[in-house]
Amino acid sequence: MNYISTEVIEEQKIKITNYLNNIGIDTIRKEIIRGLTSKQKYISSKFFYDEKGSKLFEEITRLPEYYPTRTEKHILKGIAPELMGRFYETDIVELGSGDCSKINILLDSAPKDNLTSINYVPMDVSSSAILKSAENLTKLFPELTINGLVADFIDQLNIIPDNRKRMFCLLGSTIGNFDENIVNRFLNNLRSSMNKGDTFLLGIDLVKPEPILHDAYNDKQGVTAKFNKNILNVINNLIDSNFNINDFEHKAFYDKYKSRIEMHLVANKNIIINSPYHNSDITILKGENVHTENSYKYYFERFNELEEVSGLKINKVFTDSNKWFALILFEK
Ligand code: AVJ
Repeated sequence: MNYISTEVIEEQKIKITNYLNNIGIDTIRKEIIRGLTSKQKYISSKFFYDEKGSKLFEEITRLPEYYPTRTEKHILKGIAPELMGRFYETDIVELGSGDCSKINILLDSAPKDNLTSINYVPMDVSSSAILKSAENLTKLFPELTINGLVADFIDQLNIIPDNRKRMFCLLGSTIGNFDENIVNRFLNNLRSSMNKGDTFLLGIDLVKPEPILHDAYNDKQGVTAKFNKNILNVINNLIDSNFNINDFEHKAFYDKYKSRIEMHLVANKNIIINSPYHNSDITILKGENVHTENSYKYYFERFNELEEVSGLKINKVFTDSNKWFALILFEK
């Protein structure tokens, strides 16, 4: 294995280990250029989350139109006592933990003496996000042990300690960003790294009437538009390019055949982009789209498919009264 631990931050009950391969900035730059020179131009949605992008996303989660976060938290609150009652001496492994705001809800429902027995393992590519949220969490739950892993959760699941029972969590409909082949690869990797008795809690956004989906990605205050355009600033920093966010309009729509929201940036004039990392100009014509995100919405019927491709069993499905969002508890 070629995973290297490049830094270990240790303070009291927080330990953070970095397992990110130095895949390196060169690979990232190539990936960006490939997207911008494709027939259908695209930028991967993983580039949304610089510091400003993460703040804008947090703002999105509080918008009246953006139902997913609030609905998922509501369901979590309802099921937390049952879940936490089951899990004693367990590691809670949160994949793509981001700001760790959802794990609060679970931990809130854990009996005090249970908390000392829980080891929280946030896993994210952003070490600063893990550190910041770990510090906030220990203020709220001083008895908690936190063992953060800076790593890619799709392909690096084998670094997660497995000396205790584990509950894996992938919340916030993060899975909605993945195309089918990535979902399948992830679920396969997960099944093979899970032991018998381990569980997996998956948060998934559901298909619902189109206007509700549409408005969630076209909010009145324009925060989603700002979030979408900010990806161009992130790209400018990574490849020294000259995108101007004012040259683009936000576009988000629901494609009912693919059951996904697509987000794009549409050029409002002819644009020439250049970067020292690419040897020719990149032209973007007025009206051309740069695809920035897919957000898949699931039908209940597709849950069986998830069971099949993962080889895991669904123990229980939790949803809200509108059936807008689901939390699926899998077991091996
Ligand atoms: C964090 C991927 C779940 O798809 O709803 C919010 C990101 N994009 N508004 C989603 C997002 C536009 C969000 N996920």
